[in-house]
Amino acid sequence: MLSLNQLSYHPPATPQPILQEVNLTLPPQQLGLIVGPSGSGKSTLLEIMAGLATQTEGSVQWREEELDPEDLQQLAGLVFQFPERHFCCDTVLRELRFGHPELSTTQLDETLSAVGLSGIPLSTPPYALSGGQQRRLSLAVQLVRQPRLLL
Ligand SMILES: Nc1ncnc2c1ncn2[C@@H]1O[C@H](COP(=O)(O)OP(=O)(O)OP(=O)(O)O)[C@@H](O)[C@H]1O
Ligand SMILES: [Mg+2]
Repeated sequence: MLSLNQLSYHPPATPQPILQEVNLTLPPQQLGLIVGPSGSGKSTLLEIMAGLATQTEGSVQWREEELDPEDLQQLAGLVFQFPERHFCCDTVLRELRFGHPELSTTQLDETLSAVGLSGIPLSTPPYALSGGQQRRLSLAVQLVRQPRLLL
């Protein structure tokens, strides 16, 4: 059970808190959905859950254990709101293997198939894909690392 407890985020640069006393529990193998108006803090909340920002109050816990940002970076995979802006390699293969040279061709093929990209050559530059394919690739980049928490 993953839980957010009284999580608030009030960086010094903002006059008002961006998140205020957010509580959430998510059992294993469950899909959770966070909804809210534009600017309400959904992306900020996911960044905290991915360990890319740190809450100013409250905690993120797995069962009784408190998780710090480093733990969350290991456990979570975040597909950004505009994921295509974050590509850093010149081919689909290098993008998928970035930081994980141990990934086998079978793992890569299975993941590309899972996101509906089985037909594309691994030598394709990410930017040569269509917009929707780029988003599928961004999802594959996270999935292939088998995160415990996919955001
Ligand atoms: N780095 C930052 N510094 C200051 N304010 C920020 C920063 N990032 C986000 N904000 C502010 O935090 C609030 C929440 O933004 P966030 O991007 O989390 O909203 P969102 O719910 O994801 O919106 P959308 O539905 O449009 O994607 C906004 O008021 C935004 O201006
Ligand atoms: Mg957002």
